[in-house]
Amino acid sequence: MANTVKVSPQDLQSASQGSERIPEPCIVVIFGASGDLTKRKLLPALFHLEQAGLLPKEFAVVGVARRPLEDEFVKDMREGIVKSGDVEERDPKLDPFIAKLRYHALNFDDAAGYKALKALLEKMDAEQGTQGNRLYYLATAPEYFSDITGQLGAQGMAKPEKGTVRIIIEKPFGHDLASARQLNDEVNSIFDEKQVFRIDHYLGKATVQNILVFRFANGIFEPIWNRNFVDHVQITVAESIGIEGRGPFYEKAGALRDVVQNHVMELLSFIAMEPPISFEADAVRQEKLKVWQAIAPIPISNAVRGQYGPGMVGDKAVKGYRQEDRVDTKSGTETYAAIRLEMDNWRWAGVPFYLRAGKRLAKRATEITIQFKQPPQLLFKLGPDAHCGEIQPNLISIRIQPDEGISLRFGAKVPSPDMSVCPVVMDFNYADAFGTSSANGYERLLLDAMLGDATLFAHRDGVETTWALYTPILEKWAADKPDKIPNYAAGTWGPKETGRLLARDGRKWHKL
Ligand code: BG6
Repeated sequence: MANTVKVSPQDLQSASQGSERIPEPCIVVIFGASGDLTKRKLLPALFHLEQAGLLPKEFAVVGVARRPLEDEFVKDMREGIVKSGDVEERDPKLDPFIAKLRYHALNFDDAAGYKALKALLEKMDAEQGTQGNRLYYLATAPEYFSDITGQLGAQGMAKPEKGTVRIIIEKPFGHDLASARQLNDEVNSIFDEKQVFRIDHYLGKATVQNILVFRFANGIFEPIWNRNFVDHVQITVAESIGIEGRGPFYEKAGALRDVVQNHVMELLSFIAMEPPISFEADAVRQEKLKVWQAIAPIPISNAVRGQYGPGMVGDKAVKGYRQEDRVDTKSGTETYAAIRLEMDNWRWAGVPFYLRAGKRLAKRATEITIQFKQPPQLLFKLGPDAHCGEIQPNLISIRIQPDEGISLRFGAKVPSPDMSVCPVVMDFNYADAFGTSSANGYERLLLDAMLGDATLFAHRDGVETTWALYTPILEKWAADKPDKIPNYAAGTWGPKETGRLLARDGRKWHKL
């Protein structure tokens, strides 16, 4: 597809972010600030916002964790920002931004530590004009969430007399339905729901938001986006990386909890939802929720799990999951999950959705494919070239990452004297069209939370509905330890059973 519109990053910034998008003065307080997320994602994202002129002048960040760090924290964050790419050591905005960082050590259940934190924040308000506005960010391990929210409540830091207070909570938001409910109850006993922002970084990705733009800003796709035209949908979140040293976390999580219950379900909701009446938090939430509520209970026979053994990723030999650091040598945790589900609603009745997510797969690719039904009668024969393969249905492929873009496959006449057909692809590529790669997702979400816009955040009812769907499968998997694992070699496309999930329906996974 010819990409004729070239838009520079500067155009993008000024077109999409008017001055009304600059938040009120505020202090961002990150709990668990000594962890990887803060250095690799959060601080780089905040600095990118600063570079783009999207942060208020009166702005500060306080990192909170248990270890005494102080100067080391500031040095580490500077390094994280520079390493995150496209930031020069000499960027004139870097040092003034770094000067806005503070560190505060406390034990998450220690009231005295919070009293001191409160005093520090009030002192910073007086010095920097941040007006009592706070954005708390819970980036700790989930077991500390309730201590932290409890202490913020007890010290009067959750609903202070002046200023606006909001709280971002990182995933995992619970590990099953009961724990998610309990956490929601605890959080909501201290913060009003409108103060709470449950983050799913997939919603911050421009390519994910573009699903809604593709569907609802164009007139030609929506009329065919339903059971009359769509044969089935595939959603893949494939990673070539392993668990990256996160053994203890991943042992308790597994692929279904780590990626399917949240990221994959968010993608599914954007693909399947009805048009919302506006692009506002409540309107979007209602439509997403209806999608998840319409999903029929998933029989265990429609769920496949797998675990990687040793193998080759590219030309690199890698360990199996059970050989990873701090992983049980007999672990039954799944590093791959595939699901077949259906929705009981007018738009999608009878259309299967196949979902899969896994670590150490053949390549990194997050992609959604909508496969359309074949025409009722095939008039033409296939072209002679081997690559024409078999008669192919139309496909729309939405590439979330990497190589962000969208393609449409259709049949074209081969330039030969007869009427033979060969599948061809029209392609839109983000980088070619807009000359910019999309941000890491956290920029947009941090900015939205500072602005109080919850449209791209998960909500209580949605989180509980998706947990309700998967809890029976998780329980069954926990009760029946798998006996044939590892069942796929690192660097492949997952266990054999995953192919059967589609083969039963006469379908197969698309090659990515
Ligand atoms: C996180 C998971 O939520 O998402 C990780 O905990 C996973 O295990 C990551 O690797 C994937 O995110 P992205 O943006 O790299 O696709």
